[in-house]
Amino acid sequence: MGRRYLIAGNWKCNGTLAENEERIKVFNEAGAIPENVDVALCVPSIHIPMVLSKVRKEITVGAQDCGSNDGNGAYTGEVGAHQIKDIGCTWVIIGHSERREGFGMAGEPVELCAEKTKVAIKNGLKVMFCIGEKKEERESGVTMEVCAKQMAPLAKAIEAKDWESIAIAYEPVWAIGTGLTATPEMAQETHKSIRTWVSENVSPEVAEAVRIQYGGSMKGANAKELLAQPDIDGGLIGGASLKADFFNVVNGIP
Ligand code: G3P
Repeated sequence: MGRRYLIAGNWKCNGTLAENEERIKVFNEAGAIPENVDVALCVPSIHIPMVLSKVRKEITVGAQDCGSNDGNGAYTGEVGAHQIKDIGCTWVIIGHSERREGFGMAGEPVELCAEKTKVAIKNGLKVMFCIGEKKEERESGVTMEVCAKQMAPLAKAIEAKDWESIAIAYEPVWAIGTGLTATPEMAQETHKSIRTWVSENVSPEVAEAVRIQYGGSMKGANAKELLAQPDIDGGLIGGASLKADFFNVVNGIP
C-alpha cells in the first residue's frame, strides 16, 4: 500500500463555540478528501463534543494534550487520555513546543511528554508527538541533538509496536506562527535525520513506517513543495487550519 499522508489542523486556543461551529461548516463543505490522506482536527478540549457531533466522519478528531494520569483520580483540571478516547477522539497532540515552553510557566520536560504518550497509547489514542528546535539551536547547528533529546525518553518509555500509534510532528519553533517556513530542502534534511535516528534507536521497520509531519507556517502556498519531499509525510497546521486554506494543504499532496 502506498504511503498515506497525515494532514492535521491544530486550532490551539482559538474560537468561541459559535465561531468553531462555523469553522466546522468550512471543513464539511471543502470537497472530497484525496483517498491517500488522513485528515485530523485537534481542537480545544471544551469544543471536542461539538466537533465530534458535527464534523464529517472522514475527518478524525483529537485533543491538544492529555494528562499523564492513567485513569480516574484526584487530578484536578487534567483531561485524561481515557476520557478523550471515551468521547470518541482518535488523536492527541503531545509535546507541542508551546507546552514544552510552558507559556511563561514551568514547561513540560521531555520525560513527561514520553510518559503522557505511553498513557495515551495505552488508552487507545494515536499520538502526534511534537519535536523541534529553537532559532538559536538551529543557528548553532544542534537541531538534531535537540530532536534526539526530545525523542530519547519516548523510545525508552514505549515498545516498538506502540510506534504504530505515533506520528512525529517536526515543528521548528522558529517557524511556528511566524510565516518563516523552513525551506523544503531544510525540512527534508531534518526529516531524513529524524527517520535515521528512529532507525538506529528503535528499528528500521518502525523508521520506514512512522509518518513524520512538518509543522511551522505550512499553508496552501507552500504545501505542494514541502509534501513533495520524500521524508515529509504530512503536516501539522496551525493558522491555516482556521481557514479554508487548510484544504489547499490537504490537496497539496503529490
Ligand atoms: O501545531 C502546529 C503549529 O504549531 C503550527 O502553527 O500557525 O505556524 O501553522 P502555524
